[in-house]
Amino acid sequence: MAHKGFTLWFTGLSGAGKTTLADLVADKLAQSGVPREVLDGDVVRTNLSKGLGFSKEDRDTNIRRIGFVAKLLSRNGIPVITAAISPYREVRDEVRKNIGKGFIEVYVKAKLDTLVKRDVKGLYEKAIKGEIKAFTGVSDPYEEPLNAEIVIDTDAEGELQSADKIWNYLVEKGFVVAEPALARA
Ligand SMILES: Nc1ncnc2c1ncn2[C@@H]1O[C@H](COP(=O)(O)OP(=O)(O)OP(=O)(O)O)[C@@H](O)[C@H]1O
Ligand SMILES: [Mg+2]
Repeated sequence: MAHKGFTLWFTGLSGAGKTTLADLVADKLAQSGVPREVLDGDVVRTNLSKGLGFSKEDRDTNIRRIGFVAKLLSRNGIPVITAAISPYREVRDEVRKNIGKGFIEVYVKAKLDTLVKRDVKGLYEKAIKGEIKAFTGVSDPYEEPLNAEIVIDTDAEGELQSADKIWNYLVEKGFVVAEPALARA
């Protein structure tokens, strides 16, 4: 498949489905022979952002760093997928502006009740008990995107359905393009 550089920027609460969908879309790109890089918040915090905490300032710094790397790669034609909570609208919009064309914000939504039930990492239980401070959605803010290109409602959709929706957007907008049959002949 032919492709352009783009940045698929996932945002949403912990356990909403950012990593799950980032990996599904990355796999689909891989199967289609498209180069790609995933910048997952959990991984980035062990290297590029090692030592940063969860104050507003540190969270913003983390997002700016991810945005910087995404810009470098995507402007050179490499599709980038980021999966960090990115709770603050202002810094997300700053990254959007820096990256420019090809920035695709994906808001991965789930009700707080659902997330507490899923509790994928066991963090909500601890946050609700007060054992973890400044936990996004429980004791720290999450500012919803107002103009996300794609909104995923994980209370209503399964993960494969959500991944398909994102893939269809990439195809419709021409970020990935099937090679003409002739080229394969
Ligand atoms: N439509 C959906 N899309 C993605 N995940 C879904 C969907 N429906 C249910 N899920 C489930 O929600 C969970 C999402 O977990 P995941 O680790 O991807 O969250 P996350 O947003 O990366 O969280 P964190 O910010 O803590 O890393 C998984 O268990 C996944 O199976
Ligand atoms: Mg994750």
